[in-house]
Amino acid sequence: MAASVYAVLALAVTALGATIALSFAPHKATPVSVSESLIKPSRIIRTLKRVSTEKHVLEKSSCGRVWVTVHSPEIRLAHNQRLLDAVELNWDFNACSSVPRQIGLFDDRPTSWNNVLALFLVTSVEGHIITNISLGEGSLPGGWEAGVGGRGPHCLWPWVGAGDMQEIQSYNCLKIQPTWMEDNAAQINNLRIGDLAIAGTHNAGAWRFDTEISTLSRDSFVLCQDRSIWAQLVHGIRYFDFRIAYYDYYQHEDDRYWLNHNLIRVRPLVPLLREIRKFLDTTKEVVFLDAHHFPVGFYEASGAPLRHVHGGLLRIIQREFGPHLALARDFSTGAGTRGPTLQTLINADKRLLFSYVDNAIVNENNWLWPILPHLWANTNSPTHLFTYLDNAISNSPSPTARSPLFSAMAQTTPTVLDILFLRGSLRENADDVNRNVTTRLATMWRSQANIVSTDFFLGNDVIDLSILISVERASRL
Ligand SMILES: *[C@@H]1O[C@H](CO)[C@@H](O)[C@H](O)[C@H]1NC(C)=O
Ligand SMILES: *[C@@H]1O[C@H](CO)[C@@H](O)[C@H](O)[C@H]1NC(C)=O
Repeated sequence: MAASVYAVLALAVTALGATIALSFAPHKATPVSVSESLIKPSRIIRTLKRVSTEKHVLEKSSCGRVWVTVHSPEIRLAHNQRLLDAVELNWDFNACSSVPRQIGLFDDRPTSWNNVLALFLVTSVEGHIITNISLGEGSLPGGWEAGVGGRGPHCLWPWVGAGDMQEIQSYNCLKIQPTWMEDNAAQINNLRIGDLAIAGTHNAGAWRFDTEISTLSRDSFVLCQDRSIWAQLVHGIRYFDFRIAYYDYYQHEDDRYWLNHNLIRVRPLVPLLREIRKFLDTTKEVVFLDAHHFPVGFYEASGAPLRHVHGGLLRIIQREFGPHLALARDFSTGAGTRGPTLQTLINADKRLLFSYVDNAIVNENNWLWPILPHLWANTNSPTHLFTYLDNAISNSPSPTARSPLFSAMAQTTPTVLDILFLRGSLRENADDVNRNVTTRLATMWRSQANIVSTDFFLGNDVIDLSILISVERASRL
């Protein structure tokens, strides 16, 4: 039965053109009085620093928040035109005594309504607007597109501003957070890894096909992301959920390991590991990599692990990450605890934690981090997803958990019938939940969430919110 369901699934996906496997913290603007700054040289230096910080303020609000996201589904316009990656403007003015009257999209820091590209009236305390303007390529700013760029957050082109007719009171941009752990080190380094809020991606490697016969970048039921692993890191994602498969018909061992979405082969593994390696080599960030599912080639039909296949993967991981690997045996702090602090990992300069879903293999290799619990609702209903996650997050971590980390899997899962009858798509499913994920993280999940993993993460604000929440938690230590 199971096999025929898989066959049907594989066929359904073939029909869609996919490849089948053969088998911020908000910086506060500090007002500075110039006359005061002329008194002493040391004061001048400090003042200059403050002024440059102020120039660097990317997010400001007098109350509430505004933020930019990207619409994950395509929009059909008149005359058969399609709009991809529409920019969305979001607001939450619950904390405001009076709600700003208008919100607009800008292509630079909003200073005057005269420069607005699209203007909308605000008619609710919280909400969003989908503009009909596309993000476009979304190239990484600050020098990060080609390689390692400047530290600190940087803005892509879209900015949002909100306020009344005279004044823009709140603004923000769509940004990258390539060095957020380092930027906030003084505040967050005493947090244990289990007490951080961390943005993650579900099925992180499924962002564009790279197989012998496909380089497709948009499909309905396989691709969960649309940014490369490098771009995900640069945006601020620090947790990757990897689904690794093994195909023994390739001659070279390296070529046999793939990232899959279930039975579908998406990309070879080793180049992705090298993107992470390059990031670790050139930043001081900590990255959590989770081998969470082995859909093809790692087990006998009986369910026994194929030791040489697991062993080959572990050798590749050790070879590729070498000096960056934080060995669990050196850093873990025992069941039911929250793990080492960021400071401990940074002092040792061991910044890649690799967790492994198979306990038998973990028991034989004590450098692996144990199974990282996934709070997974396995439902295609947004309502059930949130009921499940609200409860699961409030009951996590389990007092006996071996892993200091846990990940809320904040996406719905289509059923085989959804796929067969082409009901919806992963992009539409992500759109149905991503805004609510942002709201939940800001409210009900704020005190307890650890990793929150999503699909099409540009559709939510989990990265900036996680940074803000980590800083907030650290301030209470
Ligand atoms: C885009 O939206 C603006 C209003 O913001 C509207 O005037 C314009 O006609 C729209 N363009 C398209 C192509 O739909
Ligand atoms: C998601 O948020 C919207 C707007 O607040 C709300 O109407 C909807 O019921 C929420 N959905 C779920 C599943 O909680």
